[in-house]
Amino acid sequence: MQLYTRDIGGGTPLVLLHAFPLSSAMWLAQREGLATRFRVLTPDLRGFGGSSLGGDDPSIDVMADDVAALLDAKNIDRAIVGGLSMGGYVTLAFCRRHPDRVLGAILADTKATEDTPAAREGRIRIAERLEAEGNVSVLLEDLLPRLVGPTTMRSRALVYGRVRGLVQSTPPQAAAWAQRAMAARADSVGALAGFRAPTLVLHGAEDVIMTEDDARTMAEALPNAELITIPGAGHLTAVEQPQLFNDAVTEFGAALTRTVR
Ligand code: MLT
Repeated sequence: MQLYTRDIGGGTPLVLLHAFPLSSAMWLAQREGLATRFRVLTPDLRGFGGSSLGGDDPSIDVMADDVAALLDAKNIDRAIVGGLSMGGYVTLAFCRRHPDRVLGAILADTKATEDTPAAREGRIRIAERLEAEGNVSVLLEDLLPRLVGPTTMRSRALVYGRVRGLVQSTPPQAAAWAQRAMAARADSVGALAGFRAPTLVLHGAEDVIMTEDDARTMAEALPNAELITIPGAGHLTAVEQPQLFNDAVTEFGAALTRTVR
């Protein structure tokens, strides 16, 4: 599986994996703001944006292996790998399956626990609706209103409009596949203690999808992690507060380079 990937800038490779149900378009401000310090690679995960879905069974591990194949294709040995929400699930799977390729990890607005049975059932219902209806109405009704926080809703209507546009352009088959993949994902909490790479955990203060406890659980279980809460942002910190997000990543990258030297 060849992921369609925007690849810009120079320096330490930084791979950023997008949230559900968006695409690499969500990282616009990171490509603009971070490319002077990093080589920023933002793939469309399979089925989203410019990447095809392929024929594999739904699996977050498969998505993580796609990212390893991307690094192979780009001749990149090690990178900072980060993801937001679903992209964070893929990052966790990547750290489990390809630890030698992780220079540092960024886990934004995500969690390491698996789904509860109720959450899993909810995802299967959503997948079935997506497949039966052939459109993303269910995502616009159920998920979109919770993606951004009240500060963004109140003061940055254009940001909300942009997110809505990205959700609307998601292929329903890819969204259904990803829901099934997320429902089947393994619990990563037990694996965190074995992650050696420095990790930045980010959490939007107004996030109603991931809780502060989710972020804290990861930061406390990881041997080498820092937790930063981003004010004025809901679930999509990178889109809602791009400057604060980019500053945190820049600082993390600088500290990492100092350590590696
Ligand atoms: C996301 O933003 O990627 C999703 O909310 C993740 C999820 O559904 O668990």
